[in-house]
Amino acid sequence: MTAMKNKIYTTILLVVYAVVATVNVAAELQRFEHLPTKADGSLDILVIGDWGRRGLYNQSHVAFQMGKIGEEMDVDFILSTGDNFYDDGLIDVDDPLFDESFTQIYTATSLQKQWYSVLGNHDYRGDVMAQLSPVLSHKDSRWLCLRSFIVDSGIVELFFVDTTPFQDKYFNQTKHTYDWRGVLPREEYLSNVLKEVDTALKESSATWKFVIGHHTLFSAGHHGNTQELVDQLLPILEANDVDLYINGHDHCLQHISSKNSQLQFLTSGGGSKAWKGDVNQWDPNEMKLYYDGQGFMALRVTVNEIGVTFYDVFGEIIHSWKTSKYTHMDA
Ligand SMILES: *[C@@H]1O[C@H](CO)[C@@H](O)[C@H](O)[C@H]1NC(C)=O
Ligand SMILES: *[C@@H]1O[C@H](CO)[C@@H](O)[C@H](O)[C@H]1NC(C)=O
Repeated sequence: MTAMKNKIYTTILLVVYAVVATVNVAAELQRFEHLPTKADGSLDILVIGDWGRRGLYNQSHVAFQMGKIGEEMDVDFILSTGDNFYDDGLIDVDDPLFDESFTQIYTATSLQKQWYSVLGNHDYRGDVMAQLSPVLSHKDSRWLCLRSFIVDSGIVELFFVDTTPFQDKYFNQTKHTYDWRGVLPREEYLSNVLKEVDTALKESSATWKFVIGHHTLFSAGHHGNTQELVDQLLPILEANDVDLYINGHDHCLQHISSKNSQLQFLTSGGGSKAWKGDVNQWDPNEMKLYYDGQGFMALRVTVNEIGVTFYDVFGEIIHSWKTSKYTHMDA
């Protein structure tokens, strides 16, 4: 009798769990808390994109400079804007590329922090589940890659968006195959991502809001603007007072300050192979930086101010920019 009762309770519990789990998947992004450890509550972040090439194409040089600047800044964590492993992501969780392009490259003490990564289109050409797997986090505890998620750092909330499935062209291509497990049916997936991001942004009470994705919104680089995201994601970011949109995809360092948007558009895609000279015309009043070599970006966030600094492969500052909440209010 008791055994029977237990069985019924267990069944009910499992059903409840299943329902809660299903609802959660559709309604809420996974959230991680990463609070500042510095006494003044400030936060220092490095941003790198389009990098995993076994150290080639200056990847190792960029990594070395990240280590140096990371130490000076005492960075809290590192963001990867995707295209983590070239050319076709990882084959599986045992792919040596993970070790050869990540663990063995970013070896500086200052870089032994949590990395938060999104997937790029090249990552979708391999086994996507491998990059998302906790097996990799066991191999290197710094690794965390998810599709869309949130990092709550007190004064700033970071919203990571899985942008690859938004681009139509990947679904029509025959040149490459993409691992769409977990993404189909596509329309439902995309509408859920947009809803989840919108809801999370609306509920956020953080001083600063940054959104991170692999693909560009605006860019003068080879790939240029991503029209699907301009149409579908940008209006949500603009309606919810997002401060920065941070991406990779174009292999350059770039800062666009659009006349028509409160957001700053920042590209950090200079982690390894750069596309020298592959740049289109852009309004010089909006283009604050276009650098077609390798490098990375650093962010310093305080309650009142954010500072953005771009570094080249020699660790030299090539552009910096600041804003404060009070200037916005005064203006
Ligand atoms: C490495 O960086 C230097 C300095 O920007 C550049 O001259 C060189 O072409 C780069 N090498 C590669 C393989 O990209
Ligand atoms: C891809 O196919 C869709 C229909 O499936 C179409 O709407 C879209 O224009 C195509 N895009 C490209 C780049 O061919």
